[in-house]
Amino acid sequence: MISEWIRGLPKAELHIHIEGSLEPELMFALADRHQMTLPYDSIEAAHQAYQFEDLQSFLDLYYAGANVLCTEQDFYDLTWAYLQRAQSQTVRHTEIFFDPQTHTQRGIPFKTVITGIHQALVDGQTQLGISSCLIMCFLRHLSAEEAMKTLEEALPYQDWIVAVGLDSSEFGHPPSKFSAVFDQARSHGFLTVAHAGEEGPPEYIWEALKLLQVARIDHGVRSPEDPKLMVWLKEHQIPLTVCPLSNVKLCVFETLKEHPLKQLLDAGLRVTVNSDDPAYFGGYLQENFMAIYEALNLSQQDLYQLAKNSFLSAFLSESEKQAAIAELESYMYPNRQ
Ligand code: ADE
Ligand code: ZN
Repeated sequence: MISEWIRGLPKAELHIHIEGSLEPELMFALADRHQMTLPYDSIEAAHQAYQFEDLQSFLDLYYAGANVLCTEQDFYDLTWAYLQRAQSQTVRHTEIFFDPQTHTQRGIPFKTVITGIHQALVDGQTQLGISSCLIMCFLRHLSAEEAMKTLEEALPYQDWIVAVGLDSSEFGHPPSKFSAVFDQARSHGFLTVAHAGEEGPPEYIWEALKLLQVARIDHGVRSPEDPKLMVWLKEHQIPLTVCPLSNVKLCVFETLKEHPLKQLLDAGLRVTVNSDDPAYFGGYLQENFMAIYEALNLSQQDLYQLAKNSFLSAFLSESEKQAAIAELESYMYPNRQ
């Protein structure tokens, strides 16, 4: 069965917002824990409400959902639940986004957020065998000054954060708005990534590359509109962390059949598959792989290449990448010596 083969395929996840892995079941449990009321009558009603017309209509529910995250234990439980799912789908390494401003704006201390997430990641390594790193995203609908303040708050925890990123409402908030913040982050030794070309135009991808000097582009699915950009992305092997189910749920493409993932892969770009906000978009990595396999007529070789790209694009050392790829190769070619 191809679905079981996909489940067992060793892979890395490079684009997952931890707040977007908040399943309605846990949302209700945390609301109970803090005697909060939710805008949904039931778990089923929450699932029903997850119908979106664009990125903003999703973000409105996503930020509302995150209100139940209050204590270090809540952030631990959220992250631990994700890691258990990931392990059941043979995710060997994961790079997790978190949005501190979503929480600090509500009065939750930065330390509470990061300590809960970090402790779960430590336990994920020791108890589940999943390696991980943490990427701190700035909310681009907020000001550059607020992002700079968040960067300063993060400095005492720098050992726990590998990179900074940029997420939230893309239109009207180009990467150039955050040039100075990213300069400052790089001067402290952070790697950089950015959401670009999800809903926004290819120019935002250029800005992320040239001004923010990103190591990867998150989404980048509007790249095919700019042939020069396609050449650049291929020549420099800039990874794209593509999220197929997300793009359809947010109406970037009407159906998966119109999704450019196969086109990007065939053009020689370093494409990876990711879940983005799995609790809201209908699935984790396994479900994303399965959906594109069916809709885009992918071969097993394509799936293997996508998994290999995930390790090649990760913030791992060369030897860690080679070890992960060796395991992947023995899975793909069990009869080879
Ligand atoms: N925050 C969480 N998910 C996001 C997405 N798909 N795009 C931008 N910001 C996000
Ligand atoms: Zn995202």
